[in-house]
Amino acid sequence: MKTVKIEKFGGPEVLQIQNIEINRPKSNEVLIKNLSIGINFIDTYNRTGLYPVPLPSGIGLEACGIIEEVGDDVRLFKVGDRVSRASAPIGAYSEKQIVPENKLVLVPNEVSNEIASCITLKGITAEYLLHRAYPLKKGDKILYHAAAGGLGQILCAWANSMGAKVIGTVGSKEKEEIAKKNGCHHVINYSETNFVEEVEKIVGKNGIDVVYDGVGLTTFEGSIEVLKIRGMMVAFGNASGYVDTIDVKKHINAKGLFFTRPSIAHYTIEREELEESAKKVFEAVLSGKFKIEISKKYSLDEVRQAHKDLEGRLLTGPAVIIP
Ligand SMILES: NC(=O)c1ccc[n+]([C@@H]2O[C@H](COP(=O)([O-])OP(=O)(O)OC[C@H]3O[C@@H](n4cnc5c(N)ncnc54)[C@H](OP(=O)(O)O)[C@@H]3O)[C@@H](O)[C@H]2O)c1
Repeated sequence: MKTVKIEKFGGPEVLQIQNIEINRPKSNEVLIKNLSIGINFIDTYNRTGLYPVPLPSGIGLEACGIIEEVGDDVRLFKVGDRVSRASAPIGAYSEKQIVPENKLVLVPNEVSNEIASCITLKGITAEYLLHRAYPLKKGDKILYHAAAGGLGQILCAWANSMGAKVIGTVGSKEKEEIAKKNGCHHVINYSETNFVEEVEKIVGKNGIDVVYDGVGLTTFEGSIEVLKIRGMMVAFGNASGYVDTIDVKKHINAKGLFFTRPSIAHYTIEREELEESAKKVFEAVLSGKFKIEISKKYSLDEVRQAHKDLEGRLLTGPAVIIP
């Protein structure tokens, strides 16, 4: 079967298509035929080594597929079930994959393969960021960076449906309309304007309750600046670079801020957490709290181009690989 492997860390050119033999699933594992694969920014961190993985390695963490074979001790699923997933084992960029059953969730009939493959990792992330990392309240003023991105479209629309006032930043004119369509009350083009000044025009100085910052290096200082006293900084990604040093006096103590640097793994430790979170995500998409428009579809052979587009800021929402 066809799969994508890396043998060293680097740019999109290290992604190689290989044809390999696949094993049989062991006791608690299932063999899945992938029908649609989610593309996520974290895949680029694994590829570059920012989040290192043991080499050689597959790439990809989010996919929806059909179970073709189950190990002897599998209890949760059966052959023919349609499942999706949001976490390790890495290697979702593949025609088939073997995955432990406890990493999978059942996809409701009404949710398509393509949608499931972009709302499991991204949807569960939006769920824990909005409900658990910071329990969002009606009337909260939030700032989300890269609001027209894959996760951004889901999170901003969902936050809007919860009664928050949503301010989103975007990097291009084209993305302004997309962010507005997906729940942002105000959109700031941070490539053209100073987002701190623009946020202050909307909510005043120190006016934001919570910043969700997945852009990192280029936005971190400004994100801290717009927060209210005792506001919440949720730093959850590094699209522009990793923020690895925090000055407690300047960044936290000055306004008595709360700070968290969470990852989806911290919020899906127990099987119950994963199931509960996925249930909320599927309910939210089916009740229209957020909508998904796939921005681009690639084949496995086009995977290098997919990563170039994602890192080049050319994608305008969730994108998938159809194997
Ligand atoms: N911690 C977690 O649990 C978790 C889980 C999922 C995702 N994440 C993080 O959430 C963020 C969004 O993920 P995603 O997969 O949905 O990606 P995405 O938002 O579709 O893509 C990243 C966006 O970041 C913006 N960006 C700003 N500066 C950039 C730069 N120098 N290079 C590239 N992009 C830049 C671009 O939007 P503009 O052009 O509009 O600026 C780009 O479209 C990522 O940081 C990801 O790592 C974290």
